[in-house]
Amino acid sequence: MKGLILSGGAGTRLRPITHTSAKQLVPVANKPILFYGIEDMAAAGIEEIGIIIAPATGDEIREYVGDGSNFGVNITWIVQDEPSGLAHCVLIARDFLGDDDFVMYLGDNMLEQGLTEFVEGFENARSAEPQLGVEHVKPAAQILLAKVENPTAFGVAEIGPDGEVVQLVEKPEVPPSDLALVGVYLFDPTIHIAVASIEPSPRGELEITDAIQWLVTNGYRVNHEVLVGWWIDTGKKDPLLECNRLVLDTLKRNVAGDVDPTSSIDGRVVIEEGAKIVNSTVRGPAIIGAGTIIEDSYVGPYSSIAIDCVITRSEIDNSVILRRSSVTDIPRLTDSLVGRDTEITKGDARPRATRVMLGDHCHVEIE
Ligand code: TTP
Repeated sequence: MKGLILSGGAGTRLRPITHTSAKQLVPVANKPILFYGIEDMAAAGIEEIGIIIAPATGDEIREYVGDGSNFGVNITWIVQDEPSGLAHCVLIARDFLGDDDFVMYLGDNMLEQGLTEFVEGFENARSAEPQLGVEHVKPAAQILLAKVENPTAFGVAEIGPDGEVVQLVEKPEVPPSDLALVGVYLFDPTIHIAVASIEPSPRGELEITDAIQWLVTNGYRVNHEVLVGWWIDTGKKDPLLECNRLVLDTLKRNVAGDVDPTSSIDGRVVIEEGAKIVNSTVRGPAIIGAGTIIEDSYVGPYSSIAIDCVITRSEIDNSVILRRSSVTDIPRLTDSLVGRDTEITKGDARPRATRVMLGDHCHVEIE
């Protein structure tokens, strides 16, 4: 079994962060989202992983991930010239995948449940011996589904009496079920015929839902499993903050940095080695990166402050702040995602006003 992680794409919904970096490298609890997917694959025993990257952000992703030895896996990089769809990723990964079964994973998705059981379920179904009187058809694919409250916003699966997928519908007006497709798929090599047989959708992409539907229509069995635990597509700000909260909730307290006697560190907090907390309160769950200085400030629950930041005379909670940024004299910063090398400060200049220099596609809410 091989792994294919999709880490290209346009990332328009996470602009402006994605103007200069890949969304899969945005940290959740100070670790890039993509790393969680690689770790889950490694934990499921997958050693050969192909990662799809886009030309603009691919080099940075390669630099972060390295050759895979940190994760105990071998990485093959596959450049996708344009974000032409999830099924297009399978098409261009043909040489890497060969005739092996594989698990495909969206690099900006996160699951509470690991991949091990999901992968084992497929392997068992494929290797099961036929039993007398029981119809046995080897599945060509297995998809992961999650119960959702608003199925009209998702790709939705209709399930038959034997648990087989009967139909997949994209954003249905009348949903056949409340089971939405989650970004994890298992395929045998038949999928290569499917992705070569389908046409681009009206939005110009080769859709994985069309490829799976092709399997079903052509008589191949597609199994499903229903997700246990949470699943988040982190491609937008608020789901990303939610994911950050869920991961911080699992944090173990570890205060390795410097904390002066006038500061207090409450609850599940990680202060990385080399961070400094001066005359401040950090209330968990929260993580403070190496080289970051928190002075005369309050960092509240569900904050992830990356490395080399400076927080001075400010209050922050429920936010993700990326590396080398500073927040000075801000009474309350909440529900925020702040990119790298960003300065937020209060000015004394007259006339008193809000002054900004913002990149394209930014979003600012003034109190
Ligand atoms: P999406 O989030 O569906 O697409 P996107 O990255 O283009 O984002 P947006 O809609 O905000 O513009 O992609 C899911 C994952 O798959 C994500 O990690 C990017 C990756 N991907 C590719 O690698 N190649 C592709 O052609 C597409 C569409 C996505």
